[in-house]
Amino acid sequence: MKILTIGGSGREHAAVEALHRSGAEIYSTMKNANPGIMARAKSYKLLDDTDIDGICEFAIEHGLEYAFVGPESALEAGIVDALDNIGVKCAAPTKAAARIETSKTFMRELLKKYDIAGNIGFAAFDNAADAEAYLEGLTTEVVIKPVGLTGGKGVKVQGEHLHGLNASIDYVRDIFADNIGGGQVIFEEKLVGEEFTQMVFVDGKKIVPMPLVQDHKRAYEGDVGPNTGGMGSYSDADHLLPFITSADRENAVCILQKIVDAMSAEGCPYVGPMYGQFMLTADGPKVIEINARFGDPEAMNVLSILETSFADIIRDMNAGKLKDDVKFKSMATVCKYVVPAGYGTDPQSGHEICIDEAKIRASGAELYYANVNVVDGRVLTGTSRSIAVVGVAAYLKDAEQNCEDGLRFITGTHICVRHDIGKASLIQRRVDNVRRLRP
Ligand code: AMP
Ligand code: GLY
Repeated sequence: MKILTIGGSGREHAAVEALHRSGAEIYSTMKNANPGIMARAKSYKLLDDTDIDGICEFAIEHGLEYAFVGPESALEAGIVDALDNIGVKCAAPTKAAARIETSKTFMRELLKKYDIAGNIGFAAFDNAADAEAYLEGLTTEVVIKPVGLTGGKGVKVQGEHLHGLNASIDYVRDIFADNIGGGQVIFEEKLVGEEFTQMVFVDGKKIVPMPLVQDHKRAYEGDVGPNTGGMGSYSDADHLLPFITSADRENAVCILQKIVDAMSAEGCPYVGPMYGQFMLTADGPKVIEINARFGDPEAMNVLSILETSFADIIRDMNAGKLKDDVKFKSMATVCKYVVPAGYGTDPQSGHEICIDEAKIRASGAELYYANVNVVDGRVLTGTSRSIAVVGVAAYLKDAEQNCEDGLRFITGTHICVRHDIGKASLIQRRVDNVRRLRP
């Protein structure tokens, strides 16, 4: 298989490694010079993820048959529609199908229209005056989200990120004045519980679940600070999470199947990986968001233990012939991201990171490059997450230790890591939290 990969983050490097393992010939476009992807690609070109014409030209030049699309910005720009037109087969959603992520109102309205479980109260506005009036009339706390894409950083939770009515009004005004996430706002009921990620492969009709993963969105240890794209994540050897039963998981999978059915009924069938972010509440799993792609960092957890050929899965998703027997190793994984200092508020980019790849590999941990740039042989930080290290072992505590063993060989003066991710004490807090919710 000659395959195009689009994107230069950790998620795409993990996809490239999985494709490499399955014998695919890889051609890549990415906006940053990601050394991990560059090392595996037969050819690559530095292009913006939304440069549709440039990406199509690259695909034609190399006679590429298939495409893997990592970033949501490319989906929103219509890369799949454009590649379809030139005969490149994609395992990713069209622009219309990607609305499940690119418009939070589309997602909520779809769940409402098809009466899909897991939806929550919401109200959307396209002007600041009506939004402010709505906010002033509220008696309970809400979550404030720009309707469109914000790279995981636009969500603000009342009582956590926004204190007092004025702070909320100011944020709503900013969303409209600065056109954040398309300049529309959605207010959602504030959920209480534990978050988890259920990703599935989708072939237009059928879904096949991947192992459950828990991400950590807050920038700082102890789950405080601004929301980020995700600082790290873990998954367990039984493909559940320590606070989730198989019944909870079945409910989440069932919600995703109904979403896929609804998208077909709407005339925009969904093909590709789909990401469901859920809150496990006292009333079971509720939908926080649906993404039209792999999660990042969650992709690193599941692709590191994928046994089935990823190239075959891509072919089968595209052909509408996904097989049930997609296999993942029964191993626990812990992923921690090295990020530039200030990530989440004011990231300091352009600083060198030193990576001893050989020692990391000798430690048994996996290494995925993300938003870094190779300049004159040196690896420099960008403004987003830099490098992910994934520990893999039979037990979570050993996977966490394995991840830390690998992290020791990454050094730099302007970098941070959330070391608490995957540690027994933090996981126990999650278990206790769910026990309190559902005594
Ligand atoms: P998102 O970018 O939609 O994944 O949201 C970022 C983070 O905000 C989530 O990981 C949650 O911690 C929090 N969040 C989003 N929506 C809600 C909600 N309706 N209730 C409570 N917390 C939420
Ligand atoms: N980990 C969150 C995301 O990929 O959106």
